[in-house]
Amino acid sequence: MSKVNEVEIQKQYIEKVKEMNKGKKLKYTILTMGCQLNENDSEKLSGMVEQMGYTKTENAEEADLALFNTCCVRENAEDKLFGKVGELKRIKEKRGTIIAIGGCMMQEKHITDKLHESYPYIDIIFGTHTLHKFPEDLYISIKEKNKIDDIINIDGEIYENLPIKRDSKIKASVTIMYGCNNFCSYCIVPYVRGRERSRKPEDILKEVKELAQNGYKEITLLGQNVNSYDGGEINKNGKTIKYKFANLLRDVNNIEGIERIRFVSPHPKDFTDDVIEAIRDCDKVCKLIHLPLQSGSTNMLKIMNRKYTKEQYLELVRKMKEQIPNLVLSTDIIVGFAGETEDDFEETLDVVRKVKFEQVYMFIYSRRVGTLGDKMENQIPEEIKHKRFDRLKELVESQIEENNKKYIGTIQKVLVEGTSKNNPNMLTGRTGSNKVVVFEGSKDLVDTIIELKIVSEHMWYLKGKI
Ligand code: 5AD
Ligand code: SF4
Repeated sequence: MSKVNEVEIQKQYIEKVKEMNKGKKLKYTILTMGCQLNENDSEKLSGMVEQMGYTKTENAEEADLALFNTCCVRENAEDKLFGKVGELKRIKEKRGTIIAIGGCMMQEKHITDKLHESYPYIDIIFGTHTLHKFPEDLYISIKEKNKIDDIINIDGEIYENLPIKRDSKIKASVTIMYGCNNFCSYCIVPYVRGRERSRKPEDILKEVKELAQNGYKEITLLGQNVNSYDGGEINKNGKTIKYKFANLLRDVNNIEGIERIRFVSPHPKDFTDDVIEAIRDCDKVCKLIHLPLQSGSTNMLKIMNRKYTKEQYLELVRKMKEQIPNLVLSTDIIVGFAGETEDDFEETLDVVRKVKFEQVYMFIYSRRVGTLGDKMENQIPEEIKHKRFDRLKELVESQIEENNKKYIGTIQKVLVEGTSKNNPNMLTGRTGSNKVVVFEGSKDLVDTIIELKIVSEHMWYLKGKI
């Protein structure tokens, strides 16, 4: 079946469910775990569900449809899933709520086995490759009262023009590629999201242009490994060229109305010069680049199958900083991967001291069933992992405090996101370097980009003044 046909078929199911739900004032709730890719998937699910006649509620107690989009990258997510599914049982008994669980964790057999065994009241289980078929799954579940298991292990096709309900009116995520080919030995993603598939350049650019026309100002290009984006061969000015991530950055930069471009996550091994040049040349590309390090030890990087050494990473950082004025970096680090010695960990601290990241996302290594890392014998005891994590955290926090001081007195462009969670009288937004800024101002400023003077720093946020 052609891809266009498949989307049309799902649109027909949307109409059928909408017809069944007519006049019923049904509500849905959606809980999303994990990364921005998953959030983007949830926006697509919400788009389909809203077209089928459901309105959103944050309160699961009043939901007729409860969706859970799962992540499996780290362990604690599993406890959260089973806890939530347990809670939903009572709500289902009360009001017949349809329970649908999807996302990355559903691609893991030991998880779905456990769901079938211990939570038989779940109505729909769907995986990462069948998200677009949710209207059909829901239709069958309602109509035939069947339990649906819609999981395949073949790389999903890329379906364009599915409905989408975006969370923000000013910031939008655009997935440019699906899957991952890298098989880092700690990581489950290649097993649950399949091999790399890139969207066509014209489809991505069309989506961004439409977003710009609808008032969106900030675009985040998403993929497990964005700089291995492969847009195929295209004809440009009479010449056939290979359309890569650098081309895409330049083309998105030319779209009128877009003011900020971000992307996550690139892989250091694929950070070619053309990408560095594109970041340098494109004024809208934020000069905060996320560059996952994972470990600072060449030995660990080898075991992790990262395909770069400590020295190569530092050289890349040097080159990027030299070529891109005002560049700052953020990173991901895993502490306590199998076999990590005290010396290996010191190497990680050394890189953190040298690079002075703007932000470090720190993770304690969590064994994932089916990965090479899980099969290794020299696992690190939890206690040592936690001690190392605390040491890294201490270093990172001292650097952040130091770094924050540099902002005081500067003028920053801030994209205003809404009212502050901790103080409803204040507004909150983000700088190009992704720092949270809290300030006093009129609610009319929400969803605009304004200039603020930074007056003080408070570890996890800055205070600004109009
Ligand atoms: N344990 C801990 N952290 C992990 N990450 C990926 N897999 C694991 C794991 N098994 C981290 C990596 C990655 C980020 C998204 O999550 O740092 O970059
Ligand atoms: Fe995202 Fe990976 Fe989690 Fe899936 S497993 S939601 S791709 S972080």
